[in-house]
Amino acid sequence: MKTSFIHTLYFKMAAGLGLILLVVGLSYTIFASYMLQQINQSSLQLINHNLALNLVNDKKIVHDGKIDKKAMKETFMQYMTINPSIEIYYLDLNGNILAYSAEPGKVKRNSINLNPVRQRIEKPEQLNILGDDPRSHETKKSFSVTAIPDKSNPEGYLYVVLQGEELTKAINTQSQNTIIYLGGMVLTGSLLMGLLLGLFLFYRITYRIKNLQENVANFVSNDFSSASTSGFCVSNLIIPDEISELEKYIARMTLHIHKQWSALKQQDNLRREMVANISHDLRTPLASIQGYLETLTIKYDNLSDNDRKKYLKTTSKQANSLQKLIDGLFELAKLDAREHQPIMESFPVLELVYDVLAKFEINTQKKNIKLNIISETDNPVVLADIGLIERVLDNLINNAIYYSNTNGHITVSIAAPEDGSLTVKVIDTGQGIPVEQQALVFEQFHQAHTPERKDGHAGLGLCIVKKIIELHKQKVWVESKPEQGAEFNFTLAIA
Ligand SMILES: Nc1ncnc2c1ncn2[C@@H]1O[C@H](COP(=O)(O)OP(=O)(O)OP(=O)(O)O)[C@@H](O)[C@H]1O
Ligand SMILES: [Mg+2]
Repeated sequence: MKTSFIHTLYFKMAAGLGLILLVVGLSYTIFASYMLQQINQSSLQLINHNLALNLVNDKKIVHDGKIDKKAMKETFMQYMTINPSIEIYYLDLNGNILAYSAEPGKVKRNSINLNPVRQRIEKPEQLNILGDDPRSHETKKSFSVTAIPDKSNPEGYLYVVLQGEELTKAINTQSQNTIIYLGGMVLTGSLLMGLLLGLFLFYRITYRIKNLQENVANFVSNDFSSASTSGFCVSNLIIPDEISELEKYIARMTLHIHKQWSALKQQDNLRREMVANISHDLRTPLASIQGYLETLTIKYDNLSDNDRKKYLKTTSKQANSLQKLIDGLFELAKLDAREHQPIMESFPVLELVYDVLAKFEINTQKKNIKLNIISETDNPVVLADIGLIERVLDNLINNAIYYSNTNGHITVSIAAPEDGSLTVKVIDTGQGIPVEQQALVFEQFHQAHTPERKDGHAGLGLCIVKKIIELHKQKVWVESKPEQGAEFNFTLAIA
């Protein structure tokens, strides 16, 4: 599925970064402008904290301990025109404004609060004391003040507002311009730098996620098989990060899914094959039985005694193989369903081998096959389900006889115990099993030699053997060279 660009993770991360940079830039600008104002005010007070006193002394506003009102008026006029950056006020002892250096109508207050004034006179070194601005009811400003005619016998105060209205206007315009310029520079610079860096980093991250997503999508659309055995490509980082860990886990997961999916498909194929085989194996003897019985019914009187016996014998043989097949299938189903839980007991395995071989004496005699038993230990005792192991030996010896030519040899050998178990071998001198078939003969219905199934052999014996041995948590395998016989091995736990 193709995702539109604005819905991609890359776009979302880039937009998020842009927004963060914008907020940071704006906060920085506001903070910088506030700090600029604070520094301005402190500097003004530092430089001018003696301005009021100097004015009094320079302009000779106090003469022989008396206020010279004329000199004061002249000073007011002079500063109003020459230096509009400061505003001078003459206050009485209650803070009422008696005179000022401003055009009439500009001053909005009649009096000002004297607390900051007294604080300043008492502690001249203290910065950042703000006083009332006579030109506004709200604003506070830096100021310089001195008691006149003198501190010990004051009649009033000379109150100088350091950042007069004109200067404030000029500073505001200037600082606004500076802030806009600085803010713009900082914002643009950081946005560009941050964006470039962020976009590059985000690209590197999202590129890997996109790759991963494409890989997974391919895997799903290719029927869970594109991972093959090598799995996904995992980034080769010196220091692994979350994405490379995710890649690793997804690779493992897909490999696992791939294997399970293949196993499921294989099982499904096997199941189909099995159903086809079972129906074939059931239908063939049934059809034969039906045929003979019909012939017997229709032609009973016309048949000789010999023919009747022959027909009945064949029918019985077919019924036997049908019974064998059904038994085999039933046994496999029980083993598959784990209903056959082994009942473990200790028993001498050699005795069991003798018993089983005795059962096959007539069959071996018919083919003139010699039976041998070799044991590398005296009377070894194993821990297993005796009934199930008898079934294993039955199937293996049955095969050994069936797939051997006349005058052959069959040897059952018991090896010396090793690592808590011993190996039982059933060796024959028969036709052997081609190498490419050896791994398959343990699968149900698999027959290595016969193109078509014959006389009741359905290909279930070794499958039953394998399941029984696996139930005992032991191993079974075959070694064989074609035309030189086969050697079936299985292990048993020592008691
Ligand atoms: N000792 C052996 N020598 C040569 N081939 C063998 C031997 N044992 C088994 N095979 C091959 O392995 C195949 C599978 O054996 P398995 O015992 O499972 O089935 P089967 O003998 O054909 O039928 P069933 O055991 O159900 O009667 C056989 O069909 C045969 O081709
Ligand atoms: Mg068999």
